Amino acid sequence: MCNCNQIITNLTIAKLISCVFINKQHFLLQFLAPISTSESPPSPLMATAQFFSLPDSIKQLSDSGALSSVPTHYACRDPDAPSDVDPTLEGQIPTIDLSVLTEGDPARRSQMVRQLGRACEEWGFFVVVNHGVPETVREAMLAAAQGLFDLEEEEKAEHSGKHVMDPIRYGTSFNSKVDDVGYWRDYFKMVVHPAFHSPAKPLGFREVLGQYAACTRVVGMELLRGMWESLELDEGYMNNALDLDACFQVCVVNLYPPCPQPELPMGLPPHSDHSLLTLLHQNGVDGLQVKHGSKWVHVKAPPNSFLVNIGDQTEIVTNGRYKSVLHRAVINGRSTRMSIATVVAPSLDTVVEPVAQLVSSERPAMYRGVRYREYLEHQQRNKLWEKSALDHLRLQ
Ligand code: OGA
Ligand code: NI
Repeated sequence: MCNCNQIITNLTIAKLISCVFINKQHFLLQFLAPISTSESPPSPLMATAQFFSLPDSIKQLSDSGALSSVPTHYACRDPDAPSDVDPTLEGQIPTIDLSVLTEGDPARRSQMVRQLGRACEEWGFFVVVNHGVPETVREAMLAAAQGLFDLEEEEKAEHSGKHVMDPIRYGTSFNSKVDDVGYWRDYFKMVVHPAFHSPAKPLGFREVLGQYAACTRVVGMELLRGMWESLELDEGYMNNALDLDACFQVCVVNLYPPCPQPELPMGLPPHSDHSLLTLLHQNGVDGLQVKHGSKWVHVKAPPNSFLVNIGDQTEIVTNGRYKSVLHRAVINGRSTRMSIATVVAPSLDTVVEPVAQLVSSERPAMYRGVRYREYLEHQQRNKLWEKSALDHLRLQ
């Protein structure tokens, strides 16, 4: 999908034309204009920039107002490639009414459990409505997250350059130590369970995060309960096997600033999550796409909904019955997009393996077991690309 070569080839002969002072300490950008081998002047689309060092954040790059084109390091898409998005699939994304799972009469509940099972089997993705998380809590979280990104770069830097297992991390792209292209995203990742971690600033952030984390954990657990039931797995057994009382929960806040050439970079590349499931909520600006069959589907989030995707730990534990879904984030040229992803996973010490009930001679174990801590560390330490972390564990 990323066709960097062609774009880079267009830029192999380039000359330095100017420098831009982005902040007081660093010359961050050197704008390069390609020397055209023909008589025609270089197209403005080809004018680009090369970093001597990466910016502290995409927000800083975008806020500087100095950017009229995308630095080559971020240009990973071929703008001339035919669209791989199928708009006819949008209307088929399954919806799960959580209130029916939690308080519906038995007949309606069983029907919703089956619907959930089908959504997991056919899509690995669904929209959750009537989830019970108050809109005030969701709005407060978005506002608090904006406040977090609006802190001075020096204040945010306190949480940058951390080890992938550190409980609070601020950064840009996915893992800028290993990414060979940059992604148009800044993030904060905060481990909120079993131990709760929050940045001390901005004022009040900690309380909002605590409340949001508690509410979303309840939704995650209800969905998992329904998923186990849809596979006729015993809830108590699964809670023990995955040590869900000590479940690992991370709140990831993503910021995708507007981009002068949104068709060139990705917000996040195609990937699956390392979780059991991930709940996503956004600031009204769409940008999530999920893969269904061979096509991508642009997700329009209904108001007051969570977008839920199945993660790799569910694929392992269900022996491939419920597969993690590939998804990616696209950006736009007008508005800042913010999304809050809540990752719900087994406890770090759980050895996750296919559950015996779903392994048989007709369907032997498809993955080897691995301690979730090791899986997570491996996934976060490497490049984010499709299902590369899970592929390591495949037996069949
Ligand atoms: C993620 C993710 C998608 C989005 O944080 O893992 O896939 O739309 N986010 O922000
Ligand atoms: Ni994701």
